[in-house]
Amino acid sequence: MLDIQNLNAGYGEMPVLRAINLTIGDGEIVSVVGSNGAGKSTMLKAISGIIKYNGSITWKSESLQDVKAHTIVKKGIVHVPEGRKIFPDMTVVENLMMGGYLCQKDCQQNLDKVFALFPKLAQRRTQLGGTMSGGEQQMLAIGRGLMGNPKLLLLDEPSLGLSPLFTEVVFGAIRTINSNGVTVLLVEQNVYQSLNISHRGYVIETGRIVLTGTGEELLNNQEVKRAFLGM
Ligand SMILES: Nc1ncnc2c1ncn2[C@@H]1O[C@H](COP(=O)(O)OP(=O)(O)OP(=O)(O)O)[C@@H](O)[C@H]1O
Ligand SMILES: [Mg+2]
Repeated sequence: MLDIQNLNAGYGEMPVLRAINLTIGDGEIVSVVGSNGAGKSTMLKAISGIIKYNGSITWKSESLQDVKAHTIVKKGIVHVPEGRKIFPDMTVVENLMMGGYLCQKDCQQNLDKVFALFPKLAQRRTQLGGTMSGGEQQMLAIGRGLMGNPKLLLLDEPSLGLSPLFTEVVFGAIRTINSNGVTVLLVEQNVYQSLNISHRGYVIETGRIVLTGTGEELLNNQEVKRAFLGM
């Protein structure tokens, strides 16, 4: 579905991603794990057309090189950024509708789906985004992404800063979203939880993929255990 070949990207003169190869099949949850600064968010930015790159990213056999970010969203690739980026002075529903700018007849249906997934958002529909707790804002950010009817959802650190309880809710929601037919690319520092729900994963180290396998293989890998799981 998504095919990344020999991806190189960076900021100005500084290279960050080096010769990345990564594929995502229809219906998969794929994780990318790696330490701070490894280039995970940069990779998501390249896929969603926010930064320029060399190499190829193809979506359903069509090149995304030079395709504008808003056109990439229309093709079904939706990026939920690191840090949530909620509009603080807009209500929950208004925040959700910002992600639903492409929905027409199905807006209400999409809202209903988001509220079924996160009942807490339904109870808080008129609350201002900026007054929601961190965990609630994360639900809102994911919900806003879902309003755009994604086929591929790019999630950047959805569990960052969340309590164990909210972390469970968020990982449970990702499973549900996936079982409803949405393919997921998940970037996480919660290595155990993310590999646990993933079909496959990649380990990235200073801009290079150093290991790949099924979620289970990576969880049992000695290097992964040592570097990320404190075992
Ligand atoms: N806008 C930018 N301008 C210059 N350098 C940047 C910019 N954004 C990121 N970088 C640098 O690129 C490198 C990779 O950053 P990136 O955000 O992709 O890492 P990450 O793997 O997502 O890390 P984290 O786990 O901390 O979120 C870092 O060295 C970072 O300082
Ligand atoms: Mg990041």
